[in-house]
Amino acid sequence: MTARVRLGVNIDHVATIRNARGGPHPDPVRAAQLAVAAGADGITAHLREDRRHISDDDIVRLVAALTVPLNLEMAATAEMLQIALAHGPHAVCIVPEKRAERTTEGGLDVLGNQAGLRAFVDRLTARGSRVSLFVEPDPDQIEASAAIGAAVVELHTGRYCYLTGDDQTAELARLAKAAALATARGLEVHAGHGLTFANVGPVAAIPQVAELNIGHFLMGEAVFVGLDFAIREMRTAIDDARPPSPAC
Ligand code: PXP
Repeated sequence: MTARVRLGVNIDHVATIRNARGGPHPDPVRAAQLAVAAGADGITAHLREDRRHISDDDIVRLVAALTVPLNLEMAATAEMLQIALAHGPHAVCIVPEKRAERTTEGGLDVLGNQAGLRAFVDRLTARGSRVSLFVEPDPDQIEASAAIGAAVVELHTGRYCYLTGDDQTAELARLAKAAALATARGLEVHAGHGLTFANVGPVAAIPQVAELNIGHFLMGEAVFVGLDFAIREMRTAIDDARPPSPAC
């Protein structure tokens, strides 16, 4: 598989900065539009149960404004299901959520919650959204994701990003094996969490990875070099690792 890797830009942390002062600036929808102009193939926003960054109104405005697919990240709760069904975004990525965590700390336990998650997959898929499950690169979680009918797995790259040396190499091999298994089971493979200019290459080079979702590093880097430049640099780092084929 040589197709160009899609880049989804997560805009949550623009909302984090906005919410620090309680006003309308900086607007995550404006950031999304800039990201698209810089080459983002999609926009990701995580509506958390505690609304610590993205708000319900942000989702309404993103749905109205975006010209590229919206990937709505959410926990598997009844409230979030109703919101996702009301909007019918292009994609819904179901993530585990703990109120006290700083960010999404681990993958979903699909294996241990197959019946509950299948109900979400069924309803969201019937609404027309592609359902993605955010999982660790663990074969059992991937088999379970396929078994309950998800279209996509997003592999959690957090461990790969914080490990170093041989441990990081071993985690990269786990990601590559998980990507191959997911593809063999008919799942599209996405990856994300903690990716930077320095560590994105080996993940982008995994041939089955179709999409990378990146947020925190890009927004941090934008403080120094601007959002447009940061996204273009990330695009280049991804393409350098897996050059697009001439047909793409
Ligand atoms: N993918 C998923 C499912 C996530 O929960 C997050 C974090 O919100 C990301 C990707 C992006 O991670 P980061 O902000 O570290 O780039």
